[in-house]
Amino acid sequence: MAILKAVRGTRDLLPPETELWNRVEATARAVFARYGFGEIRTPVFEPTELFARGVGEETDIVSKEMYTWEDRGRADSDKGQSLTLRPENTAGVVRAYIEHKMGDAGMLQKLFYIGPQFRRERPQRGRYRQFWQIGAEVLGPAWSGSESALRDAEVLEMLAALLNELGVKGWRLALNSVGSATDRARYSAALRDALAPVKHLMCEDNQRRAETNPLRVLDSKDPGDQEIINGLPKIADYLDEASQEHFAQVKAALDSCGVEYVVEPRLVRGLDYYTRTTFEFTVPDGSGLGTQNALLGGGRYDGLSEMLGGPKAPGIGFAIGEDRLILTLQAQAAEAEAKKMDAFIAPMGVGQNAAALSLASELRRAGLSIEVGDGSFRLKKSFEAADKLARKMVIVGEDEVSSGILTVKDFAAGEQTKVPRAELAAALRQ
Ligand code: HAM
Repeated sequence: MAILKAVRGTRDLLPPETELWNRVEATARAVFARYGFGEIRTPVFEPTELFARGVGEETDIVSKEMYTWEDRGRADSDKGQSLTLRPENTAGVVRAYIEHKMGDAGMLQKLFYIGPQFRRERPQRGRYRQFWQIGAEVLGPAWSGSESALRDAEVLEMLAALLNELGVKGWRLALNSVGSATDRARYSAALRDALAPVKHLMCEDNQRRAETNPLRVLDSKDPGDQEIINGLPKIADYLDEASQEHFAQVKAALDSCGVEYVVEPRLVRGLDYYTRTTFEFTVPDGSGLGTQNALLGGGRYDGLSEMLGGPKAPGIGFAIGEDRLILTLQAQAAEAEAKKMDAFIAPMGVGQNAAALSLASELRRAGLSIEVGDGSFRLKKSFEAADKLARKMVIVGEDEVSSGILTVKDFAAGEQTKVPRAELAAALRQ
């Protein structure tokens, strides 16, 4: 019988890799707790209408990527209801906020979630049909301060702290403002006008986007279309005064807490609910993500609650692609490992310094990259220095010098072995 396999674009997460997933999630939970976030768990499937209204009918997510089916429920109320596996969690969180009247207490709600999302995208490295997000949302009635630029800056500063604590190297924060819903609509119309006379020169996808959702043209990576795109109107010129002021406050707050960012006028993001601040964190090439270098994205959605029939409840949030975060951590750890020296020689006391240096010279002549410690180091210090600098450590104590059998510690394998001096170079090369 043919062997059954996981559906294309989905995958199993197995030990020991799952340990890293758990470590990442534990760190995220600890950081969220420090900023006053509590966990929310919403259903994995929701009424299709939630995403159609919240995320937007014209977006790629809703028009092409959702897993939708008609319920076969027995109760009349269920029968024929269109259901969808959640492609993202913001709409679900805001639905829950409205349904449970979470705004009534007047408090700002700070909620986080960790869970699978589903999009029928073309699978590739860093892009899956079932993927995981670690996300958070801050929302509440306007008088709870939910609209304040301070919230935007707090969320971004928290993300910077989380990525640093996880050890993500070289992240870059791209920031923009897409203004109010009216600003966006005016800008969309201006784009449509600007695209009308030139769209026939663009790729097929952009010709379609120019009609249905001109903001999406700005996301296009098509090299042939870049010249046209660079000449299109900029959203910054369409922001009303209040949105300009809000954006200025976000930037000033980030400056004051030392979070670096780059303003990217083309960053409009692919979901319709965004207003004002939008952002994305990317990682440098070579971080294991290939072309999928957006580690996380988010922004403000001041009108989403009303789009879903709820009270006014401005909010801001983000979602980290957990699969991408894990790939990045693995690739960056592998790169750091590859840059390490072959070995660190640790003499156990100043009396062994000369023997250590002569061993180092012998191994270097054999072509290995070697660092030598000093015998006055305590063993623990030697270990720490060696672990940072080199893949392996060679211990040179009195016994080792007299017997010619050396102790080699392999940091990655966590093993310690005895190796005769004549075989040492070969063992270190492995
Ligand atoms: P999004 O940009 O659609 O935003 O997704 C956020 C992150 O999820 C992306 O930056 C990426 O890392 C990851 N992601 C998206 N699609 C895939 C995929 N097919 N495979 C792997 N990872 C993927 C949202 O989902 C918004 N709900 C974020 C938000 C929260 N905005 C406000 N609050």
